[in-house]
Amino acid sequence: MRRRDFLSDVARYAALCAGTPALWRLTTQPSCGGAPFTLGVASGDPTPTGCVIWTRLAPDPFAPLGGMDGGRPVISWEVADDEGFTKVVQRGRYTCAPELGYSVHVDVDGLAPDRWYFYRFTLPDGASPVGRLRTTPAEGAVRPLDFAFVSCQHYEQGLFTAYEHLAAESLDLVAHLGDYIYETAAIDGRVRRHHAFEIVSLDDYRMRYAQYKLDPALQRAHERCPWIVTWDDHEVDNNYAGTAGENGWESDEQMRLRRAAAYQAWWEHMPVRVPRARSWADLSITRTANWGALARFWVCDTRQYRSDQACGDGNRVVPCGEWQDPSRTLLGAEQERWLLNGLGASRATWQVLAQQVMVGPLDSRPGGDVQHSMDQWSGYPAARERLLSAIAQRASGRTVVITGDIHANFVNELHAGFDRPGRPVVAAEFVGTSLSSSGDGWATYQGWERMQPENPHIKWHNAQRGYVRCRVTPDEWRADYRIVPYVTRPGAPVETATSWRVQHGRPGIERV
Ligand SMILES: [Fe+2]
Repeated sequence: MRRRDFLSDVARYAALCAGTPALWRLTTQPSCGGAPFTLGVASGDPTPTGCVIWTRLAPDPFAPLGGMDGGRPVISWEVADDEGFTKVVQRGRYTCAPELGYSVHVDVDGLAPDRWYFYRFTLPDGASPVGRLRTTPAEGAVRPLDFAFVSCQHYEQGLFTAYEHLAAESLDLVAHLGDYIYETAAIDGRVRRHHAFEIVSLDDYRMRYAQYKLDPALQRAHERCPWIVTWDDHEVDNNYAGTAGENGWESDEQMRLRRAAAYQAWWEHMPVRVPRARSWADLSITRTANWGALARFWVCDTRQYRSDQACGDGNRVVPCGEWQDPSRTLLGAEQERWLLNGLGASRATWQVLAQQVMVGPLDSRPGGDVQHSMDQWSGYPAARERLLSAIAQRASGRTVVITGDIHANFVNELHAGFDRPGRPVVAAEFVGTSLSSSGDGWATYQGWERMQPENPHIKWHNAQRGYVRCRVTPDEWRADYRIVPYVTRPGAPVETATSWRVQHGRPGIERV
C-alpha cells in the first residue's frame, strides 16, 4: 500500500468515525506483525557525558495505546562503542507505562565527551533499529560543529525527501524548530483546508505522531545523530497564543485540555530531557544546550507564554490597535528574563537562539503603508526591541538566530533595533524553509520583487523545501541552504541554493 493511499484511508476512516471510537478500532488495524519498534528510535539533548535515547512501543500504531495491552513491560537498553554491540559501555532496564503511551526516555549518563556511540532497545520478541548518538565536547573545549536545522513537516503536503538527504550528511546534530506534526489532517490524501479535520484528543495526537514516525526517511534522520527539538504552533493548534485558540471561541479550559493532550503527546514522542509535567497543560521546554565552549543553544518557546496576536492576527497594516503596547510579550516575562540575562552571562563563542518565528521584519505591502504578520516578532514590536537591544548590549556580533515557521528561506541582518532606521547590525538570522509544508514551493513568494526594496535587511529569500546546513567554527558561521526542487513525487535531488557567512565579531552577513 502506498503511503498516500494509506494516509487517505486512515484519514477517511478518522473522519467517518469521529464520534465512534470503537468503530475506529474496528476499521483501522494495520498488520504490524507484532513487532513493537515500528516507530524507530531517536536520541536528543546531548551533554558532554550523556544523551537521551527514545523509542515507543507500538506494535499496532493506529490502535489505542499503539496496540499494547495495558501492562508494564520492562525493556532493556544498551549503549555501545560499536555498531555490532560487542563493546557495550552502558546498559539498563526501563519500565514502560501505558499512561505515558509506552514511550521510553532513558537519560544515559557516564559517557565520554565528544564521542559517537550506538544504542538500541530490546524486548524478548526483538530488538529495535540501531541509532547513533554523540556526546558534546567537554565544557571549555572548542570543536567545530556541523549541524542542520529543519521545521514544518506537513505530512499531506509533501514527501520527506529532504530527510533522505539530511540523513546522508555528516552532522553532529539536528535542531528541529517546530511544526513536527500538523494538527489538521486531510481526509483525501492532500490537504484542502475546508476538508481537513482537527486533532484534539490525546489518542488522536498520539496517532498523528505514530503516522509521522512510520516514515522511513524521518526514522533514518533520527537514527543518524542527536536532535534538539522545540515546538511551534501546529503541535497544538495553528497560531495559538497561550490559551487563546486559533478560532477565538475556545474557552480557556478547552484550550488547556487541548494543550495537555498535545503537550503530553509531544513529550511522549520526542527525545528530550524535559521533566514530565505534573499537569500537562503547562510544560516548560525552554532549555539550553552547549557545544563545548563554541556554541550555546537557547531553545525557546514563543507559543505557550505569548500575548494574543494583535489586531485579530493575520497580516495587518501598522500601527493598529494594541500592537505597540509594551506590556505585550512573545516569550513571557520569565523566559524573556532568562534569555536576555543569559546572553550576557554566557561566554560561549556563539549564542544561538533556536526559536520559531521570524525576528526580522517583512513589510509585505509595497508602497507607503507598512504591513506585518501579527504572528511573528513583528507583531510584538516592543518585545522585539527588548530582545535586540539586549543582543546589542550583551552579545553583538556573536548571536545567530535560527528560525522556522513560515515555509520559506530568508537571510536577515538584524539591527540593534528596527524602531529607528540606520541602527547597526548586531546579529544574523537564518530562517529555514519547511521540510515539506506548502508542497513544492516557489523560487520566491509571490510579489517578492516589489517587496524586496522595502526590506533591505533581507539579503536572500527563497520558498522551496529543504533544510539549512551549518558549519560553525570560532571564526565563522557558514550556512548552506539545501533545497529539493519537488516533494510531491519521490526522488528529488538536493542542491545548495546559496551559502552565507557570518564572521565572528563582525556585523553583517556575506554571500560565500
Ligand atoms: Fe509550519
